[in-house]
Formats: sequence, C-alpha cells, structure tokens
Amino acid sequence: MAHLLITGGAGFIGSHTCLVLLEAGHSLVVLDNFANSSPESLIRVLELAELGFESERLRVIEGDIRSEADLNRAFGATPGSTGIEAVIHFAGLKAVGESVAHPLRYWDVNLAGSRSLLAAMEAHGCRNLVFSSSATLYGYPEVVPIAETAPIQPINPYGHSKAAVEQLLADLYGARLQSQTPWRIARLRYFNPVGAHPSGRIGEDPNGTPNNLFPFVSQVAIGRRKQLQVFGGDWPTADGSGVRDYIHVMDLAEGHRAALDVLLAEPPQLLTLNLGSGQGHSVLEVVSAFGAASGQPVPYEIVPRRAGDAAATVADASLAHGRLGWRTSRTLQDMCRDGWAWQSGNPKGYGK
Ligand code: NAD
Ligand code: UD1
Repeated sequence: MAHLLITGGAGFIGSHTCLVLLEAGHSLVVLDNFANSSPESLIRVLELAELGFESERLRVIEGDIRSEADLNRAFGATPGSTGIEAVIHFAGLKAVGESVAHPLRYWDVNLAGSRSLLAAMEAHGCRNLVFSSSATLYGYPEVVPIAETAPIQPINPYGHSKAAVEQLLADLYGARLQSQTPWRIARLRYFNPVGAHPSGRIGEDPNGTPNNLFPFVSQVAIGRRKQLQVFGGDWPTADGSGVRDYIHVMDLAEGHRAALDVLLAEPPQLLTLNLGSGQGHSVLEVVSAFGAASGQPVPYEIVPRRAGDAAATVADASLAHGRLGWRTSRTLQDMCRDGWAWQSGNPKGYGK
C-alpha cells in the first residue's frame, strides 16, 4: 500500500487506473485541471471502489502540472506526515491534429508540464515515476510487430513532445544513478487504448467529433453520427483497411499497477515497455465486432487514406510480459461489449 500522486487521473486512462490502484489498496492524490475531463469520472471511481465521497484514500486537487504552487499542494496532500512515494504521470494533451495546429500548446503542457513535475518530485524527494508514453514515437514502423528497440521517429508535434519527455527522463535517470537516491522510472508506450470498465460507469468522453476509430464507431452505433469513414481500403493488409493493436483500457490500467509494483520492488532502473496486446485488428474487423456487440448497424464508406497514417502498427508485447509478468487478457469482443456498455449508458458521456 503506497501513497501515490496521479496527474491527469480524471481522464480516460487515468480514471480506470485510479480504480485499479484503489482496489489494490493504494491511497491516491489526483492532480487534474479538467482541461479534457470531468470530476464526475472520479466520483464514479469512488462509487465503483465502494468508497465514500469523503474517503481519505482519494484526494482530488484541481490544478495544473505547470504550476509549482499546485504541485506543492499535491505533494502536501497526503494524510499525516507520509509523503508521496510514487507518481503516475498521465496529464497531457493527446490530439495529433491539434498538435500540428498548436505546437506551442503541446510543448508547453507535455514538455514544460513534465519538467515542472520532475522538478517538484526532486524538491519533495520522490524519485519513482511511471510515465505515459506512446507508440506514436515509432512513426511509420519499418518492422511489425514493433519492439522497444525500434527507431524513435515521431511524425507530428505530439509525438515529438513525448519523445522529448522520454529523453529528459533518460537524462535525469543517468544524472542521479550514482546518487544516494536514484530514480526508478517506467516509460510505458501505449498502443491503442479503447473500451471501458465493464460496468459502463466510466469510459472515454472525447470533446467534439472523435478523431479516433473506437469512439467514432460507438457514436455511429448509438445514432449520434450517420456513418463511419474508413480511411483507406487499399492498405497492404488482409482486407485492405488499417491494422492497429487495440488494448482494453482495463488491461492497460492493470499494466500500470504491475509496472508500479516492479519499480518499487526492484533495484532502481529505467524501464521502457510497449503496452499492447501483440495482436492486430483491421478497421473492418472492428466495425463488424462492434456491430455484433451492440446489436446496432455501423454503416461505413471507404474513403481515401488519412494523412499521417501507417498501414499496420502492432506491439511486440513480449518484453512487458517478461519484465512485469503482465499481459493482456481481454479480447476485441470484450473491448466492444464494454465500450458499448459505456456509450449506451452515457450517450452524452459525463455531460461535461
Ligand atoms: P485524457 O485527455 O482523457 O486524460 C488526460 C488528463 O490530463 C485529463 O484529465 C486532462 O484534464 C488532464 N490534463 C491536461 N492538461 C493538464 C494540465 N496542464 N495539468 C493537469 N492536468 C491536465 O487522455 P488519456 O487518453 O487518458 O491519456 C493519458 C495519457 O496517455 C496522456 O499523456 C496521453 O498522451 C497518453 N496516451 C494516450 C493514448 C490514447 O490513445 N488515449 C495513447 C498513447 C498515450
Ligand atoms: C492515433 C494517433 C496516434 C496516437 C493514437 C492513440 C493519428 C494520425 N495518430 O493513432 O498518434 O498515439 O491515435 O490512440 O491521429 N480510422 C478510420 N476512420 C476514422 C478513424 C480512424 O478508418 O474515423 C482508422 C485509421 O486510419 C487507423 C485506425 O482506424 O487505421 C485507428 O485510428 P485511430 O483510432 O485514429 O488511431 P491511430 O491512427 O492508430
């Protein structure tokens, strides 16, 4: 049982991870400015964890990772004299198109925000960190499945900002390795997180028109959008549509718990791991699985490829299995069933 700081804990992946960590017995301080989320997600996390609203095990601080004052409040928020033992750092911006239009915003929140957090961690004597990185670092992969040793070659400002934070973490790790208190760091490169908690009480709540496949498909199934556009039917894949490694958000949340356990138990290290299922699914397979899970039609048309897309990205997930003893257990059908439970139970998301 540890006291943990979760930045961005109200967001899609953060909220599911908070639930898994509470169920594992940890106490959490969430720091989130709700730029892309709602406090409602954390209210529902408490309800799912069967904890009261006043529970000391989940404290929520509305604040910004770029603010030293907000970070100091978060580090001071544990009960008694116990300090924060580790940080899971989800807070950041993640929309690729927006990052192309507003690179300053992405370098500011993702890089400067991470720098401020790391400075606060040093100041408060906390040197254990799990960081949300992304498979977007691999750009157009030359070899699939993609191993962690593949070249880092991001193709948009979002990816550049994640690559910069990964480098900053490696620099900091190297600088403190010989000190009394070295850093323990996990850089987790997520593939395509989708789905929701099986209760359908928490899930992904994108603003405006979704850019990503799963939320778009579920909004078509519920009737909020007329049809899906399938970006490209002429990819060099089995059915001509793009292939991705979709990972159930609950598997991903459990991967964070496993990474944290390993970091805190083993000697200081810099872990760099793909979190994916190791299995690829095409857009047309997702359409068909979602239609079956929801019992709703998912009309689609095939249109030209989207700029910046790769034909197929699939994780080599063996290193995470070897290092963490963790692997995904949920199928594409589970992702669709749970995503539909969330979408159909909350047609307007959290109503933020
Ligand atoms: P999300 O937008 O749902 O969650 C991010 C959270 O961070 C939100 O609650 C948001 O309000 C908060 N936040 C943003 N800026 C902040 C700031 N300046 N200070 C404090 N809080 C702030 O996104 P998510 O899908 O849960 O992603 C979590 C992390 O995982 C992000 O770093 C993202 O880049 C990374 N990631 C996501 C995906 C994906 O497909 N969802 C894939 C790879 C990596
Ligand atoms: C996108 C981001 C990537 C990020 C990832 C997080 C881009 C170019 N890439 O990846 O940086 O790390 O999200 O999950 O935005 N598709 C359609 N129709 C749609 C939407 C998507 O056919 O309306 C297809 C895409 O062409 C792709 C697949 O569905 O083949 C998955 O797309 P998406 O969910 O956007 O994820 P990625 O492109 O893998």
